[in-house]
Amino acid sequence: MELIISTDEESGSKIAYEILKETLLKNEQAVLGLATGTTPLKLYQLMIDDYQKGNMSYKNIKTYNLDEYVGLDENNPQSYRYFMNKILFEHLDIDLNNTFVPNGIGNQEVSILEYDKLLKNLGPADIQILGIGSNGHIAFNEPGTDFNLTTHVTELSKSTIKDNSRLFNNINEVPTKAITMGIKSIMESKQIILMAFGKNKQEAIYQLLSGKIDNKFPASILNNHQNITVICDKEASSLLTEKKID
Ligand code: PGA
Repeated sequence: MELIISTDEESGSKIAYEILKETLLKNEQAVLGLATGTTPLKLYQLMIDDYQKGNMSYKNIKTYNLDEYVGLDENNPQSYRYFMNKILFEHLDIDLNNTFVPNGIGNQEVSILEYDKLLKNLGPADIQILGIGSNGHIAFNEPGTDFNLTTHVTELSKSTIKDNSRLFNNINEVPTKAITMGIKSIMESKQIILMAFGKNKQEAIYQLLSGKIDNKFPASILNNHQNITVICDKEASSLLTEKKID
């Protein structure tokens, strides 16, 4: 696990973009694993800016996302499909038919099987972008989730609902369930970039970097991945220096 501590979110996102760009330039048909949330927003803007300058093309790229809220369809502004379209895909030359997000509505058993089939057909991500929950979740694999699960439907933990309520009018609007890729599939990615910015992530980064693997802290399994770069800003990494892990 490589750790990069950036001055701030802006510079951390630039570092992430350089790594991503290098991978995409090597393989114009790359499979890109994407995340939602606020963490990747600046990275996505850098992708758009560089594309608009004519430096990159996403014509032959395929993407899949980690998760989706159960009960929200693609027209709902709080759905992750809507978020990805508005924040990123509509600003690139990517074919929307080559972008995949788990289906949050309809028969869940069918959606789970379909997504696992899709992941199998696409093959592992050439590069997977990850954020981390303050409770250590990756995608919506909440504390206690079996590391061997593939796509599944999960109950969101109280802390995740509370964290995500900042993006809703009130906490009662936050969906309580999500369909998420499992850790097994995430671990198959050829390369991973995990970003964490801000004070709210300092405990999570400290636990991740402690190296102890335990499914009570799902992200800890990433210590077993062969090609992962963790990029965090000074705030998110502040406990590492205080508690002397660096
Ligand atoms: P955030 O969420 O990027 O909005 O902080 C990260 C996560 O929950 O994985």
